Amino acid sequence: MYTLGIETSCDETGAAVIKNVSGVCSNVISSSLARHVPFGGVIPEIASRAHLESISFVTDSALKGAGVSLDDIKLICVTESPGLIGSLLVGISFAKSLSIATNTKLLGLDHLKAHLYASFIDNKINFPFVGLVVSGGHTSLYEVKNLGEERLLGSTRDDAAGEAFDKVAKILGLGYPGGPIIEKLALNGNDKAYLFRCDCGKGLEFSFSGIKTALLYKYRELCRIYGKKSKTGIIIPEEMIADLCASFQKAVVEDLSQKALKAIFSTGAKTLAVGGGVAFNNCLRERLGSLCKENGIRLCVANKSYCLDNAAMVGSFGARLFAERKHKKFLF
Ligand code: KG4
Ligand code: ZN
Repeated sequence: MYTLGIETSCDETGAAVIKNVSGVCSNVISSSLARHVPFGGVIPEIASRAHLESISFVTDSALKGAGVSLDDIKLICVTESPGLIGSLLVGISFAKSLSIATNTKLLGLDHLKAHLYASFIDNKINFPFVGLVVSGGHTSLYEVKNLGEERLLGSTRDDAAGEAFDKVAKILGLGYPGGPIIEKLALNGNDKAYLFRCDCGKGLEFSFSGIKTALLYKYRELCRIYGKKSKTGIIIPEEMIADLCASFQKAVVEDLSQKALKAIFSTGAKTLAVGGGVAFNNCLRERLGSLCKENGIRLCVANKSYCLDNAAMVGSFGARLFAERKHKKFLF
């Protein structure tokens, strides 16, 4: 059975064809990121217009790439929430039109749950598992006892982890999106140069707003002491920027990893699943890898192709729910 997945929650227009529940036949993504870069963040109106321009082409490419036609598609899955309202509307309207025109069942899906199950496109699911979703808008830990039975253990009280990467990059004048830029610069930095911490008590909740402010104050102090005037403003030595990036990244990675491990211990689960844009980060992947190995935990991190927003995770999650009759009511 073939499923068509459609994703338009933020700035990526995605379409994917899935065979059965996890055979990714195609996974096409068109990003409007470059149009948002000059503004230092995603502009909702630009994102919706970009979806409108590319959704037909992206869907056509996904079908062609998979070597199937609309007649072969038995289920359409579309991201229903959360996301930018205008962007979601484009994907949902398009998916509804397709399903009405071809008389195909349509499921609306939760974007975060799609990230949560993304690592199981390549790995067998073992229940129960703990899931860590780390994206630009969310940072959450779930206990999942069975397909569709997710219990929220904790989430962020303020900024999400990806949002903190983006805001820190903005403070340091590095550009957008912050995650990949900070990760690259951190490679040449000393992660022990500055002591940053993400402090949110002993539970399973997160907070990344304080660390962002701590970095801002440290940066201002360094500018006062070492700053030199340039055409673009005050600049500090590149090594200091690299050290700030490495120290910040280390603190965030440590917090995410320790809380994920704590969730594992508190639930007794033996598998940790990780998804979302921040799961692309190699430092996080490595730290989780060593902690899980030390503690005998099976780690399933989403393949890098399915970390950032994509339609394969949406199609696969929907097909899995449909196969086990655990889906919500059809949108059509
Ligand atoms: O999952 P995603 O594509 O979109 C949302 O659902 O929000 O995640 C985007 C977030 C951005 O905040 C971006 O800075 C972050 O993922 N990100 C990273 C890396 N690549 C993307 N964060 C840390 N390290 C990375 N390599
Ligand atoms: Zn996402």
